[in-house]
Amino acid sequence: MRFDDAVRLLEGIPYTSPAKGRVFHDLALQRRPRQVLELGFAHGVSAGYFTGAAQEVVHCRITAVDLEQSHTFTPCIEELLERFGARDLVSVHREVSSYTWFLKKDIQRQTRAHVCIPKYDLIFIDGPKDWTNDGCVFFLADKLLRPNGTLLCDDCNWSYRGDELARGTKHSRGYIFEKMSEDEFREPHVRAVFQCSDAA
Ligand SMILES: C[S@@+](CC[C@H](N)C(=O)[O-])C[C@H]1O[C@@H](n2cnc3c(N)ncnc32)[C@H](O)[C@@H]1O
Repeated sequence: MRFDDAVRLLEGIPYTSPAKGRVFHDLALQRRPRQVLELGFAHGVSAGYFTGAAQEVVHCRITAVDLEQSHTFTPCIEELLERFGARDLVSVHREVSSYTWFLKKDIQRQTRAHVCIPKYDLIFIDGPKDWTNDGCVFFLADKLLRPNGTLLCDDCNWSYRGDELARGTKHSRGYIFEKMSEDEFREPHVRAVFQCSDAA
């Protein structure tokens, strides 16, 4: 599908902007992945941009993972994929606790004689942005990424403090934020995955 047609189908739906969508679309056309894994699909907008590109790349398939609650999002990913006429290109998975559990099962499925056989050419991480989940995700995703594959992540500069200041409310996910140290609260966790060896 042409990029402009994908933009029209996804117009007004959170979260990925057309500008970011363009990056995903062009990247997929350039790298021509056979297997894409998206971790955190929400309504399916970024998955939509990958799907539009996948329709132009022969044999490209997408696996998309989120939480069970994403069933209730309006529109939900299945509705968006119908708009693309591409329901068969995307395998949708929903987990109860976290996509880290999906990765655990995927690694088990891919393991032969104690060796994990990498499966994906492109992995996009766009979930909770916290050290506990996403720190683990980078480690697990690395096992499933093919040599010369692409690991893409959003939210490198996202922090709890920044989010609180921007929204004027405390985050309400499953962690007890009162038990976070001030630096844990302030520092962007996804960035820390890459900069762990640098002095903070
Ligand atoms: C910013 S949204 C993703 C946006 C999506 N990639 C897009 O472009 O439209 C983050 C998503 O991560 C999901 N999420 C948060 N924590 C998660 C977890 N531990 N495991 C799986 N999904 C999670 C949320 O349900 C939400 O849909």
